[in-house]
Amino acid sequence: MSFDRSVKIAPSILSADFANFGAEIEAVEGQGADWIHVDVMDGHFVPNITFGASTCAAIRPHIKTIMDVHLMIAPVDPYIEGFAEAGADFITAHVEAGPHIHRTLQAIRGAGTKAGVALNPGTPADAVAELLDMVDLICVMTVNPGFGGQKFIDMTAKVRRLREMIGDRPIHIEIDGGVTPQTAPLVVDAGADVLVAGSAVFKGGSVTDPAPYGENIRAIRASYA
Ligand code: DX5
Ligand code: ZN
Repeated sequence: MSFDRSVKIAPSILSADFANFGAEIEAVEGQGADWIHVDVMDGHFVPNITFGASTCAAIRPHIKTIMDVHLMIAPVDPYIEGFAEAGADFITAHVEAGPHIHRTLQAIRGAGTKAGVALNPGTPADAVAELLDMVDLICVMTVNPGFGGQKFIDMTAKVRRLREMIGDRPIHIEIDGGVTPQTAPLVVDAGADVLVAGSAVFKGGSVTDPAPYGENIRAIRASYA
């Protein structure tokens, strides 16, 4: 299949009901989600803990689209195989998570999974300059990672720079944090094609009343159309 640079919405289950992930995923996919974004936090690299590979394996059968696993953990390497075995389509690791991001990305692809690299707001685009031929996705954090519902930090200049650096390579640019109908057009215009959205998608809805998820997704799509 040819590389798809159309804009995709990836709801983050960080904003879903943690006691009901399977039904939440089915509800949000039923309402038009393109990918499912899965935030793994260790209470060490970021100041919050979510869940690990066993939870990813448990939710995998409920995902019909793409399982996009964002690892906010350090170290990363000992856990890659577990997340790959759990069925991740993409595994994204942070540049800031250790001294050997190149080895980490080799290991992710070596495990048969697409490789992503994430950049915190304080990390420049150039940090990925030597990694462009070994990644399938670059995640530009537009909040400091750890929590949903934070205010968007404008990284559009970084996104534009990355878009130039990428050229014709088949690499997605993903935006993570504070994506809303107000902020989405800025990053889409700069060249992003995957929009993670937690609170902006899950607000107002539930598994028994999922229609707001669809309204929220359509409001984001309409903002940049
Ligand atoms: C932040 C996570 C994000 C977060 C986005 O550390 O990586 O995926 O869930 O949530 P919102 O869209 O609420 O900013
Ligand atoms: Zn994330």
